Amino acid sequence: MAKTKKVAVLPGDGIGLEIVEEGVKVLKQAGEQFGYHFEVEHALIGGGAIDRLGTPFPEATNQLCRESDAVLLGAVGGPKWDQNPPELRPEKALFDLRQGLGLYANLRPASLFPGLEGSSTLRSEVLKDVDLLVVRELTGGIYFGDKWTEEKEGGATATDTLVYHEYEIERILRRAFELARGRRRKVTSVDKANVLESSRLWRKVAKRVAKDYPDVELEHMLVDNCAMQIIRRPKDFDVIVTENMFGDILSDEAAILTGSIGLLPSASLGEGSRGLYEPVHGSAPDIAGQGVANPAATILSVAMMFRHSFHDEEAARAIEQSVRQVLAEGARTADLATSDELALSTDQFGDWVVEVLKQHN
Ligand code: NAI
Ligand code: MG
Repeated sequence: MAKTKKVAVLPGDGIGLEIVEEGVKVLKQAGEQFGYHFEVEHALIGGGAIDRLGTPFPEATNQLCRESDAVLLGAVGGPKWDQNPPELRPEKALFDLRQGLGLYANLRPASLFPGLEGSSTLRSEVLKDVDLLVVRELTGGIYFGDKWTEEKEGGATATDTLVYHEYEIERILRRAFELARGRRRKVTSVDKANVLESSRLWRKVAKRVAKDYPDVELEHMLVDNCAMQIIRRPKDFDVIVTENMFGDILSDEAAILTGSIGLLPSASLGEGSRGLYEPVHGSAPDIAGQGVANPAATILSVAMMFRHSFHDEEAARAIEQSVRQVLAEGARTADLATSDELALSTDQFGDWVVEVLKQHN
């Protein structure tokens, strides 16, 4: 019996419209091979939703996501809406979506793909065997604390507050330890415990939670040191878990280890199995509409969907291996190709992945 799953597809803006379709192709192919019946429904989000419905996150989209087992998102934004007031900005939709679904854990894996060693700025011997996962707390910390500016004689004062509750720290750490159990069983908890009170609490909670996972190694690292070590010896990391702002910065840093932003997937998870899956990159207005964007990040996000929402490691690995194989065989979109003539279009790349996936058994 096929497992029935409902998947909300939100293409968004720019290249989002192009890459998401390649993700859906692979989703459907994997579904056929691994015994799923997918109900795939598309909805508007971001700039396109503003233009058509006057709001970046229409209620119908919100409703669809809540009824779905997983959400596949392209990207939102573009110069057309850059001058809009905060309520009418495409990014507002992402915030509402993550917040509304309680997605507090953002997962960003970074690993090296065969044949792409040369596209990184780091030496290949540093990059060999890199396989790390940044787990970023997504709904707390300084981005969500009270903020205000006081205009005074002699100059204004601006304040941001960094608040973490014990339960928020505990749930993200548990998530990191669970994830480490499916990997190399090492967690690096990153904080600034020498300076910040919230980081001292973070470290205390990390030590307590670690007692429930005696099979997983825990190390603590200060964020400034971590920023250096990610570049110096990236292969030593397995799971890195950290608060929202540190995670924002470190996940971008880890991301560029592998070379192209077009290769990096992400998952955002909450308490249940429902998750949001999207490439790390944005809507790339500079190349939108040309059919040249790299769909790999979106396809790899679909693999994460199988892993985290459908708990199907076999299907996830089959998709990941297919992407690795086409890259190893020389499949290159324009962002990775050495010459334009050799570059594949977005859908040619997607078709190639589907063909390789079909051979999987
Ligand atoms: P971007 O990620 O869209 O593009 C940065 C550079 O990478 C561009 O040169 C672009 O052509 C290239 N690029 C990105 N994805 C690619 C792909 N799949 N294949 C080949 N090349 C790719 O970031 P940028 O330019 O800063 O932002 C553009 C718009 O996207 C803005 O409106 C921004 O707010 C929005 N954005 C949306 C995000 C989201 O929806 N989650 C995340 C980041 C930015
Ligand atoms: Mg960022």
